[in-house]
Amino acid sequence: MEFILVTPQARPAVALIQLNRPKELNALNLQLMQEIRDALKALDEDDAVRVVVITGNERAFAAGADIKQMAGKTAIDMLITDQFSTWDQIRKFRKPLIGAVSGFALGGGCELAMTCDMLVASETAQFGQPEIRIGTMPGAGGTQRLTRAVGKAKAMEMVLTGEFISAQEARRVGLVNRVVPVGQYLEEAYRLAASIAAMSPVAARLAKESVNRSFETHLDEGLHFERKNFYLTFASEDQKEGMAAFVEKRKPEFKGR
Ligand code: HXC
Repeated sequence: MEFILVTPQARPAVALIQLNRPKELNALNLQLMQEIRDALKALDEDDAVRVVVITGNERAFAAGADIKQMAGKTAIDMLITDQFSTWDQIRKFRKPLIGAVSGFALGGGCELAMTCDMLVASETAQFGQPEIRIGTMPGAGGTQRLTRAVGKAKAMEMVLTGEFISAQEARRVGLVNRVVPVGQYLEEAYRLAASIAAMSPVAARLAKESVNRSFETHLDEGLHFERKNFYLTFASEDQKEGMAAFVEKRKPEFKGR
């Protein structure tokens, strides 16, 4: 991997992916995105990993797609490159994915953050979809995921003016789960990851899939989907263990089976 660092056991059962193009503010070139896709695929298949944290550095999570790489492209170049199949594969990651964001999360960087299931931000984090300022618009979910997360008025304002919002505002509008001082955002993300890693990975996977389904479908179909996954948890040893531990007044030990 040239543009990311992967630590499969950064904490017990918690992996870390760190974007590593600091001079370019982690601008997302095509190779970097492919590396994230490949790393997530490997971590999805690694039974020792239950939760993944993805981060940048203190100055930037990612300042967007690589403008220098895109600048001269034609629409047909973009069509043939089909960069969004990489994004679609990232979206299919099945384990909980937590973004630890500090500094700039702009354009594709904001969109990458929004592919995470939860976000921990440092007080210095800034989120924005500034593509309009360079004559284009969001292309990796910015108009869709942002609108679902923060509602139409705020999404329109961000997409049409390109203005950034602060970490605190991002939390207020529902984009971010937690905001902490800059020295603590990664540790806080690990804390959140560890609390999820202690749960049944089977239940976590099915629950994540069910929550995501609510964005894809209507209520009746979503409830049906949820019910099937709920029933499915009863096929797991983890459900037996979790309920037995409750009855026996001890801590459960989930094995992911
Ligand atoms: C390529 C980038 C970049 C980007 C920053 N850099 N963002 N290179 N693509 N998106 C590079 C700069 O060219 C510069 O390198 C170095 O990183 C530091 O950036 P500066 O601009 O000198 O830093 P600063 O003055 O602090 O300004 C920070 C900034 C600004 C506000 C984040 O860099 C900025 O506006 N960046 C672009 C943000 C943006 O428009 N993002 C959306 C991209 S379009 P050099 O070598 O020149 O000094 C997009 C579409 C997504 O994301 C579509 C789907 C994938």
